[in-house]
Formats: sequence, C-alpha cells, structure tokens
Amino acid sequence: MRIKTKEEYDKAYKESVEDPEGFWAGVAQEFVWKKPWKKVLEWDFNDYDVKWFKGGKLNITESCLDRHAATKPNQPAIIWEPNDDSEEAITLTYSVLLDRVSRFANVLKKNGIVKGDRVCIYMPMIPELAIAVLACARLGAIHSVVFGGFSARAIADRINDSACKVVITTDGAVRGNKHIPMKETVDDALVSCTSVEKVIVATRTRTPVSMIKGRDVWWEEEVKHVSGDCPAEEMDAEDPLFILYTSGSTGKPKGVVHTCGGYMVYATYTFQNVFQYDPGDVYFCTADIGWITGHSYIVYGPLAAGAISVMFEGVPTYPDAGRFWDIIDKHKVNIFYTAPTAIRSLMGFGPEYYKDKDLSSLKVLGSVGEPINEEAWHWYNDEIGKGKCPIVDTWWQTETGGIMISPLANITKTIPSFATLPLPGIQPVLVDDQGNEITGNGVNGNLCIKFPWPSIIRTTWGDHQRCKDTYFSAYKGMYFTGDGCQRDENGYYKITGRVDDVINVSGHRIGTAEVENALNMHTGVVESAVVGFPHDIKGQGIYAYIICEEMPSDPEMTKKDILMTVSRIIGPIAKPDQIQFVTGLPKTRSGKIMRRILRKVAEKDVSNLGDISTLLDPGVVDEIIKGAGL
Ligand code: PRX
Repeated sequence: MRIKTKEEYDKAYKESVEDPEGFWAGVAQEFVWKKPWKKVLEWDFNDYDVKWFKGGKLNITESCLDRHAATKPNQPAIIWEPNDDSEEAITLTYSVLLDRVSRFANVLKKNGIVKGDRVCIYMPMIPELAIAVLACARLGAIHSVVFGGFSARAIADRINDSACKVVITTDGAVRGNKHIPMKETVDDALVSCTSVEKVIVATRTRTPVSMIKGRDVWWEEEVKHVSGDCPAEEMDAEDPLFILYTSGSTGKPKGVVHTCGGYMVYATYTFQNVFQYDPGDVYFCTADIGWITGHSYIVYGPLAAGAISVMFEGVPTYPDAGRFWDIIDKHKVNIFYTAPTAIRSLMGFGPEYYKDKDLSSLKVLGSVGEPINEEAWHWYNDEIGKGKCPIVDTWWQTETGGIMISPLANITKTIPSFATLPLPGIQPVLVDDQGNEITGNGVNGNLCIKFPWPSIIRTTWGDHQRCKDTYFSAYKGMYFTGDGCQRDENGYYKITGRVDDVINVSGHRIGTAEVENALNMHTGVVESAVVGFPHDIKGQGIYAYIICEEMPSDPEMTKKDILMTVSRIIGPIAKPDQIQFVTGLPKTRSGKIMRRILRKVAEKDVSNLGDISTLLDPGVVDEIIKGAGL
C-alpha cells in the first residue's frame, strides 16, 4: 500500500489508470473484511451510480480498532490535548479506545439505536466525540456530525433532513477563554425536531443544563451499566457510514453520503501515502471532527493505519499564539496538518511565539482547505519546517472523502501554491465552459474528474437527483468539482478557487445563497446579494449588499442586528465581514444579479467592470461604487 519513491508513484499511478480494479483490490486486501467482495467496481457517471467492493462485508471499526488492539494494545491511538494547557493531556491506547467505543456502542443500543438509524453528534473536540463517531460505526448507525459552531436552527435543519433518532452532545464546551453552551443549543434545536427520541449528554464543563425525563440521559451514567464488549455489526461495503452536510451554490446544505468500504480504503491509503506515515510517528491534524478533514484524517484514516494521533480541543491563539508550537514541542509531533488561514494568522504574531520552541521533531507539514498563498507557504516552510520538511498542499473536498491532488511527502517535488499531482486512482481533467476537455499542459479550466475513486460521494441524503444535478450534469460523464484549476508546463495542478457561488472563509465552505436566505430573514430586509472578497487572514471574506425597506436610521446598529440574525440562522462563521446598504442591485433584464460587478466592488477594483449595457438600470452601479467609498 505504501509508495516509497517517485518511480513507485509513477508505476502505481499507471497501474491505477490501466487496471483500476486490480489496483484497488490490491490496496483493499490490507483491511479487515468479514466477507470478500464479488466485484471491485461498477459505475455510471451519466445516470450516477457507483459501487465499490460490491458484496464485500466489513465493519470499519475492526480495521480501525480491533486489529491494532490485538497487535499493539498499548500503543497510543489518540493523544488528547485539552483547551487549557494546565489540564493534563489524556492518552487513549488502542485497547482503551476499543473498550470505550464498544461500551458507548452498547449505550446507543440500549437507547434504541440499530443499524441504519441516523445519529446527530454535536460536540466539542473531546475524546468522546471520536468515541461517539466510532460507536455509531460499530453498530452501523449513520453518524451526522454537526460542527460545534453551528446555530440551533442549523442543527435542526440537519437533524430533520436525515430524521436523526438520537443526538449526542455535551453540557458545554471551552474554546480559548470562551464557554460555549452545547446542550442549551441542542435544546433550542429540538423544539422543531420530532424525530429525536434520546439525547445523550457528556459532561465537559459541568454547567447547569436542563435534563428532560425520558429523553435526556448522562453519558457517564449510561456507560456504567453496559459491557465493554460489543460485536461489530456486519455492514455491506456500500452501506452508508456517515452523512456530512456541506454548502453548495444553491439552496440548503446537502447531506453528502459516504459508504463503508471505499471510504475506508481511500482515506487510509491517502493518509499513509501523502504524509508518508511511518509506524511510531506522532501526527497532529488541527481540524475539527465537524468537518471532512477531521472525519478522514483525525478519525478513520489515521486509526485504520494504526497511527498515533494528537487531537486538540482548543484554538491556536490560546493561551497565546504559540499554542500549536507548544503542542508540537510537548508531544514531539512529526507530521503537522493545518489550514492556510491558521498559518496566515500565526505568521502575523511574529517569531517570539515560536523561536524558543523545539520544532525539530517535525518531518512533514500539510495544508488543506483553501489555496495557500506563496507568502504563507514560504513562512511555513522556512520558519516552522526550517527548510527541511516537505509541505503537502492537499486538495480535496467533502464530496471526495479523501485527498485527491497532493504531493507525496519527500517523493513529489513541491512548488509553492501547487497541489502538484493526482494521487493514484485520480484522473483529473480540465474542461472549458462548454464542456470540452482542454488537453496538454500550460492550460486553465474547470476541474473535473473522469473516473471514480473509492471514496467518491455516493448520493446526497434523501435526494439522489440533487447529487446528479450538482456534480454530474454540468459536464457530461464527469464529476465536476466546482473549482478552477491551472495545469502548468510540467503537468502540475494549481487550484485557483471556486468557480461557483461558494465562498471559502477560513477554509470553511459557505454558500452565498444560504447567507442571503439568512439576511433576507432579518426584519426590514427586502433583498440581498452576497459575494466573496480577498481577505488577508481568512482567504476570503463575506461581503453583503443589502436592500432595506427604508435606509436604516442607525446603519451601524442595524448591521450589528443583522449579524445577530445570521448567527442565529446559520452560526457565527457565516457572519458577513462587510455590509453595504444599497437601494438596488445590478440586475439584467431577465432579473439575474450580475455578481461579477458586486465582486469587483467588494475587491475595490472598479477599473474594469466590463460590459454593463445589459443591465436593467446601469445607474445602480454608480450608486454602489459611491456607497463603497470608491
Ligand atoms: O475550493 C476547494 C477548497 O475547498 C473546497 C472544498 O471544501 P470542503 O468540502 O469544505 O473541504 C475542505 C477540506 C478538504 C474545494 O472545492 N480547497 C480544499 N483544499 C484546497 C482547496 N483549494 C486550494 N488548495 C487546496 N489544497
């Protein structure tokens, strides 16, 4: 499974294209299967349907836990670093993790959960979160982890979309010096959820919470009364493993569905090869398990690979901006995986936060979630990696389940801001707006993938047509990523950003339509239009143009009110950075908003607005430019 040289990469890549079934069958053999598959791959990108390892039976937790608990029970699986650095770190070995997962799986069972049920998990980054995820997988329940920063309303939408039967949460959470109510937010959400029968509450902050008789139970009480032995449910390779909601350019968030077999194989294969993980290495991914990076590269990939993984509860700037470097020093981290937004932010705090930290254990640095600009790349490379750690700039998406285009550490020659080459099994193509493939090198286009890989999205929960329409209809016979991309003279790929109406704020995907819906729910707002604009730290910020029934008499106060509404409807991550009140929006005669113009104004570059003659009222553009102070 492990590629060690460039020649081996070339050979693996060639084989994966010429004989994909043979190639992936070879990789898949290295996992625990209860019954072998009958067919490696069946697929159709026109009437979208993909099946990997058809007929194969497995439980992913046997590859993640049981096999390692049997061969190396005392090796750490997860080293948990708490928010507060004066609190002790906790190490969970493979045998302890297996015991705790089995025990909690029995709790879920006792609370009525059976294979196929959906379970919503809304928790901070504590070991119980990883345990809850794995316990669901143990029983074949489908987990839907909702990031801890989402609002009650956003949780309710997600619970209702997939009719979750149980919610797992905590009393509260701590992030930096903030206390965050978790159970209270869940309580607010549940006012509009009829499917939820039980809420399991783990204690973290021991803040007072309401506990409703017959519905709410304490995690710590429940685990006392069950055994630490729970047989792993036999799952079909194509049974859903989890749902993870993500934003698109239209409508409400979609529940991306990943299945058991292919996802396990691909997340683990990419973990081992991209990071070149060696047994005993300490790996630290700073993502939250509420996002796909945490699913694939904190929980499933590293555990299936038998890795030692650091899980961090807090934020990079608490107690000060040296926290990541302290953790690397303290746990002797060898492989560090973070997001460009964190790099840019920490860069700004200056060398006093890292100059006295021992970072010599580092071997590999990773980047994920958004394009990494050259300045951040060089700082990461020079100041953190001391010029001796390759940077793996990993491009992928919630829908792809695992890393798609990335250097393999120490194998692929890196170039700042290039994701470089596709992983074995990944066949990227660039297409023009008409859908014609752009061949050759030194070209730009829309990034598509023309052949399935094992962890490709299977469907969007409850709405397969939406999956087909979103990913397989823009370009016939291809998966469309939504990203623009350059292929340079050497065939290296550089992701240039989204070409649709998705904004990437601090590596989090936010749909403009979603933010507009939230803005339009604010009293007095008639219409709004949201675009992204370049932001020094976040990569992209959110710029909102808002039409009100009447121009607000106290615009600054109204802006603050509007931000509260957005926080309530979606969560603080979707709050616009800039709000401009306008009396009209630049619309074409057919009523379509010309976002190109709004983007230019938000970027403060109005030198070349292009053709505006098709606008219903070109005068509106001048007003918007003036209103922006340009
Ligand atoms: O635009 C790309 C950007 O993040 C999008 C996927 O977001 P999400 O599903 O939330 O997953 C993020 C973590 C995998 C992509 O469509 N993106 C992700 N990684 C990179 C990137 N853009 C440039 N370079 C990357 N390395």
